[in-house]
Amino acid sequence: MTSLGAPALARLLGTWNVGASPAYRKLADVVRLLVLDGRVALDAALPSERALSELLGVSRTTVTAAYGLLREQGFLTSGQGSRSRTRIPRTTPAGTTALTGPTPGPALAGPGLAAPGLAAPEGLIDLAYASLPASGEVVHRAFAAALTELPALLPGFGYDAVGLLPLREAVAARYTAAGAPTTADQILVTSGAQHALNIILRALVGRHDRVLVEHPSYPNALDAIRAAGCRAVPAAFTGNPGAGTDGARGRQAASAWDLEALQAALMQQRPRLAYVVPDFHNPTGHVMPDLQRRHLVRAATAAGTTLVVDETLRELNLDGVETTPVAAFSPAVVTVGSLSKSHWGGLRTGWIRASEDLIQRFAAARTSLDLGGPVMEQLAAAHLVRALDEPLPARLTALRDSRAALLELLAGHLPEWEVAYPSGGLSAWCRLPAPISTALTVIAPEFGIRLAAGPRFGVGGAFERYLRVPFTLPPEKLETAVLALRSAQDRLDAAPQLRRTLRDAPAVAIA
Ligand SMILES: Cc1ncc(COP(=O)(O)O)c(C=O)c1O
Repeated sequence: MTSLGAPALARLLGTWNVGASPAYRKLADVVRLLVLDGRVALDAALPSERALSELLGVSRTTVTAAYGLLREQGFLTSGQGSRSRTRIPRTTPAGTTALTGPTPGPALAGPGLAAPGLAAPEGLIDLAYASLPASGEVVHRAFAAALTELPALLPGFGYDAVGLLPLREAVAARYTAAGAPTTADQILVTSGAQHALNIILRALVGRHDRVLVEHPSYPNALDAIRAAGCRAVPAAFTGNPGAGTDGARGRQAASAWDLEALQAALMQQRPRLAYVVPDFHNPTGHVMPDLQRRHLVRAATAAGTTLVVDETLRELNLDGVETTPVAAFSPAVVTVGSLSKSHWGGLRTGWIRASEDLIQRFAAARTSLDLGGPVMEQLAAAHLVRALDEPLPARLTALRDSRAALLELLAGHLPEWEVAYPSGGLSAWCRLPAPISTALTVIAPEFGIRLAAGPRFGVGGAFERYLRVPFTLPPEKLETAVLALRSAQDRLDAAPQLRRTLRDAPAVAIA
């Protein structure tokens, strides 16, 4: 059980007291959001009502009523005498406005952020997920072919800790063609990139080890690093390369990665691992140039740090930027790949590329998690990897249209937001005019949208001034979504308490 002091909770609450509803309800809404999106752990002891009311400058009755409501909704245990502890209800509570759902656990977040099964309620536009539907026909055809191949494998046991050979060969051939010569023995098939990262952590880190991460970073990776008992060491980006330049939403002028900061963090902190997403980084959509890749590999080698490169979004190269897989610069690099973004998250198929020795260690480490991947999925995946480029042109064209629409809509309706130009990937990272990300997320469902608050992408409560906005929806839906964001921001602008908070709020010196 963890214990959360009043100052720590107050920091996480941010600008919670906005909008017209009663203060106790707003307090309960934000605490619930913090529990649901993993910023407050499950089974965490909340501060006493007295301590929290004093720190927040609200009456004790307000906090008592908020805790009471959370208890009623199943988000708090009724600690008799002791402090109330956070939990997740087994059934969907009535009358809640933000995310609700039955799936427990701090790893609540799914691909975008919500837990599996926490899709937006009917009628809400979901901007919390940054994922696409399946590239239809291609996936279906691959499974039809797999079905005809399955009988040949049925006499075997079906267990394979490294994965089916034809799939490993197909993945290896992709790397070789991209400039990183690879054999099938250097590939381990996983159930997606998230599973791959968990295997790597299980094999290579111990509790209290340091893991360098980009800041912001992919929330589920941050959760996995925390769940492994490691400390995430954040390395900030240089800033917003797309904003403030000629045509603020124009091409990326410079790299977003602050290589000097990365090098310094590697040398000073000597982390065990560094987890990076150089290919269309989630949430920013930035891409790291080859020269920086080379320098990063060198710095990691010098620091004795294993570089873990997540290439989940590598195929979503919207502007045709040419880069070399980081693995081409050193045999020590560990690469994670996935079919989730090129084809479909529902395939749950990914891989790890590493040296043969490391692959053997990963295969041994995975047996405490699972005993191999499902055979049908791997047979189908082998077809998809062999013809990986087939569904991409249509997918990239649709994404380019949606990206252009989103950037134009944001510029037109929310000109005070600064938008980092995403040269690929699925989302734009927006700097808000004030630290209102959690407040926006809490009131968003009232405007028909669901959001993932900026601090989910950071360490220690950073990014309250940021919001990830995916461009995975068609332009018409994006228009409705951006108009809803405008209305939500107007609501916050009109709240006097918020205006006061904005005046006093310190700038968040990140990204
Ligand atoms: C950077 C990154 N890594 C990993 C994942 C998870 O991928 P998978 O569905 O293969 O587990 C995602 C999904 O959004 C992602 O953006």
